[in-house]
Amino acid sequence: MKPTIRLRTRAQLFSLFTLLFSGTLFAQDVQLDFDYFKNEVQPIFLSKREGNVRCIQCHTRSSNFRLQPLNEHQLFWTDGQSRMNFDSASEFVLAGDDPLRSRFLAHPLAAAAGGDPFHGGGKHFHSQFDPEWRIMADWVAGAKSRREPSSVAVRIIQTNAAGDTSTIIDPETNQVVGEISDIEIPHGVVGAPDGSQVYITNEVMHSLDIVDSRTLRVKRRIPLSGRPNNLGVTSDGSKVYVAIMEMPGSVDIIDVASMKNVKTVATNGAIHNVYVTPDSRYAVAGSVHTSFISVIDTRTDELAWELEMSSGIRPMTFSTNADGSTKNIFVQLSGFHGFAVVDFESRKEVARIEHPVVPGEVAHLDGLQGAPAHGLAVSPDGKTLWSTSKVYSHVYIHSLPDLEEIGRVFVGQHPEWITFTPDGERAYIGAAGDNVTYAVDAKKMQAIAKIPVGQVPKRIAMVRMAVD
Ligand code: HEC
Repeated sequence: MKPTIRLRTRAQLFSLFTLLFSGTLFAQDVQLDFDYFKNEVQPIFLSKREGNVRCIQCHTRSSNFRLQPLNEHQLFWTDGQSRMNFDSASEFVLAGDDPLRSRFLAHPLAAAAGGDPFHGGGKHFHSQFDPEWRIMADWVAGAKSRREPSSVAVRIIQTNAAGDTSTIIDPETNQVVGEISDIEIPHGVVGAPDGSQVYITNEVMHSLDIVDSRTLRVKRRIPLSGRPNNLGVTSDGSKVYVAIMEMPGSVDIIDVASMKNVKTVATNGAIHNVYVTPDSRYAVAGSVHTSFISVIDTRTDELAWELEMSSGIRPMTFSTNADGSTKNIFVQLSGFHGFAVVDFESRKEVARIEHPVVPGEVAHLDGLQGAPAHGLAVSPDGKTLWSTSKVYSHVYIHSLPDLEEIGRVFVGQHPEWITFTPDGERAYIGAAGDNVTYAVDAKKMQAIAKIPVGQVPKRIAMVRMAVD
């Protein structure tokens, strides 16, 4: 009688197959990549998943899977520590076609999704489609880099100044489609042009937080030279400029490829906002304290020129010449209900527009923080300038270049920052006093939606984000 192995299910066939071949054939085929582990997998050990404890809280001690402890001010592992983490994680990897044979993947995965029955650290991933679990599984399968996002969509991100979240809005539906958590006091937000990640300044940890567009988790916190405010990104995505709101004042420059803070440029006064001009030639920073505008040349990253205004520099925005170079800086100022116009070439203030009283509207004078008008943006077609008034709860719309007021829209209590969809169809404005973001039909100049967000929504930005 011939010996037979009875295989009743496909699963049994599969496990027999992997049992026979994986230890030998596959293990030799797959090379685990260190850089991928360092930059893509390790952030998962630090990130906070709702209802879970971070992996790092236990695994510096528990079990044989060992993560190196971070000291009090350390936001990420050194290369040497990463190497030790890599070696430890690798011990729980069995390379091969079946990811579930790796304890590293099966242990934190829910049993119902194919994971092990028990993990002393709980279940962190509820599906094999979980984007963080996929990053780990791709590493086990030999990935060397993240795949480029194959599909990106326009999103509006509203940071909530008194909340611990930033809200993601889909401008097609005006619905909230996601949330970025684990950043207490998120200040400003901008997006990488390729949609892979977004950048949020973190006022509590004094870091620039890089958020992965696909996992919506913080991927890296880059230490800054002080408490940050707003930020700007170059159009090629290579550099992020961060306003440091501490005297004597500076702008930190982050090199995106290396994820490093490469330079601190001294400015005249603590910086509230920094913008990259539409042609990416300059970074323009403003100080509330000293009333100076500091202009940094992005080719040399040196201060190019500065201009003192009559009072503190608040939000700014830019108009461009036909060749894309900067024509005007529009500037809101402390204690001024309107905006000033600076000619970029002659480096002088050339006009000032004060917003008139809105008849019938109650004037709000409480909680203005010295800035009655604090939100300014030029529409993508360059034909209108929008300026919000916290006093009269409206956005004032002016034509460009002649600066005639052509309309006003009520946009809630304490309206703040403004952003547009790239097609210019819609404007989005954070109404800090109502905890909503207003969506405005820009052509009709009518509010079309009030989207509930977090506490005290202020800074807002149009970004592109991966949706696959
Ligand atoms: C609350 C503490 C805690 C957290 C959080 C935690 N673990 Fe664990 N983990 C444990 C304990 C305790 C064990 C040992 C008991 C067991 O095998 O479940 C363990 C075991 C493991 C093992 C098996 C190691 C071995 O010695 O066999 C792996 C792999 C693992 N954890 C990965 C992770 C990953 C990845 C995360 C985050 C996504 C994580 N753990 C989060 C406590 C934790």
